[in-house]
Amino acid sequence: MQTAATAPHPATPVHRPIPHHSSLPLVGDTLNFTQNGHEFLLKLHRKFGEIVDLDIFGMRIILLMGPDANEFVLMDREKRFASAGWIPLIGPFFNRGLMLMDFDEHKLHRHIMQGAFTNAALQGYLAEMQPLIARDAATWKDDNALQMFHRLKLMTLNLGSEVFLGQEPGADADRLNTAFLDCVRAGTGLVRFGLPGTRWHKGLQGRKVLEAYFREQLPHKRASQTNDLFSRLCHSKTEAGEQFSDEDVINHMIFVLMAAHDTTTITLTNMMYYLGKHPAWQERLREESRTLGSNPLRWEDLEKLEGIGLVMKESMRLCAPVPVIPRRMTRDTEFRGHLLPKGVMVAVSPYLTHYLPDAWSKPERFDPERFAAGRAEDRQHPFKWLPFGGGVHKCIGLHFGGMQVKAILHHLLLNFRWSVDNDYVMPVDYTSLPIPKDGLPVRWRKLRQARSVPEL
Ligand code: HEM
Repeated sequence: MQTAATAPHPATPVHRPIPHHSSLPLVGDTLNFTQNGHEFLLKLHRKFGEIVDLDIFGMRIILLMGPDANEFVLMDREKRFASAGWIPLIGPFFNRGLMLMDFDEHKLHRHIMQGAFTNAALQGYLAEMQPLIARDAATWKDDNALQMFHRLKLMTLNLGSEVFLGQEPGADADRLNTAFLDCVRAGTGLVRFGLPGTRWHKGLQGRKVLEAYFREQLPHKRASQTNDLFSRLCHSKTEAGEQFSDEDVINHMIFVLMAAHDTTTITLTNMMYYLGKHPAWQERLREESRTLGSNPLRWEDLEKLEGIGLVMKESMRLCAPVPVIPRRMTRDTEFRGHLLPKGVMVAVSPYLTHYLPDAWSKPERFDPERFAAGRAEDRQHPFKWLPFGGGVHKCIGLHFGGMQVKAILHHLLLNFRWSVDNDYVMPVDYTSLPIPKDGLPVRWRKLRQARSVPEL
């Protein structure tokens, strides 16, 4: 029975309740997500449509699903969706990284950071990275089970040392790699405080290692101007003369290294997987690279590698390296008649959107041509293909990432051939970002001469 106390006030809008997905006590949907990734997300979409309330990673998150919901959240012009939503997940480890900032402060920091991502800066990075790619790949010997993910991870880490830090990869590489990995994995731990032995604790230790490293290097970087990202962040200024403090540089360096390293490795890993599974595509791309005839690549060659571009887009569709993008509500907001209350966490999911059956033809199929001019499935809605996010936080490194992927793939295609068994399906671990559980073992052969093709 409705009493005066429970009856809605005439001026209060009545909101439709948000459906809740019942899950296990304590762990909530964390295991469902980390173990079943996109199947779990698709199940939620089939059952609940555009909105569902979850208990996941120790908190309540309202998941908004589909291209329209993505646009609603990411193109927010009224400052209702704060990127500080990342803080409970990764805040202690990536404190004051650009992605964790909001509104006016974010705008200023992004403006200063743009100085490290101009075309001139990218051209410098491209020149720096190519000899290293060749040197690193030369150590990849013929193997029937080359651990592709680990190789690529090491390669992007070494490239990061050179291009971001401006130093030869050395003894520090392993120590820094472990520290990054610990920071990245920490966010999805079940225990969310520094209990020794937990991922959270390791993440906090990792952060200390990284801070100490950058603090030590900083005076030298301030004193000279070189072509690496570290130096560019130290010296970048707005037209009005604003620039980063020492603490800002340290925080941004830690964040950018993390943001670039795993996402690019995952993108490359998936491309290698799909090209290993689809030899006709591998040959098509190899032919394109041979026709181009230049190695190392020149800046103007990048746009000519169209096939790599298509495969990159399709691989990022099939495995979005950042599967979910969280935000925190700064005020009560209505979405499709539901109330998103101030303070609550909401999230959108590129991973899920990329598999929606209404959005893509045969979404489970590897079909790079879906991005080619004639079909352009991604153009049907601006928030349907969003591996780099969208709106004011859209990935600042997307051109850097595309360039690095092309430089690496181009070199590997010209020098090696690889395959996986027809029935092999790469098992994915979604515990932090989506990575292969088995490291992606591939059959790997060096091409003896430019045109010879070894038997696999
Ligand atoms: C190639 C694969 C990459 C993918 C899939 C990717 C994905 C993303 C996504 C989804 C966001 C937006 C998150 C949000 O809205 O909350 C983002 C932001 C960001 N990414 Fe990337 N990223 C990649 C490469 C890179 C690289 C290579 C760099 C640096 C060199 C980088 C640096 C950043 C930074 C600094 C932000 C924060 C931007 C802001 O908040 O304004 N990313 N990235």
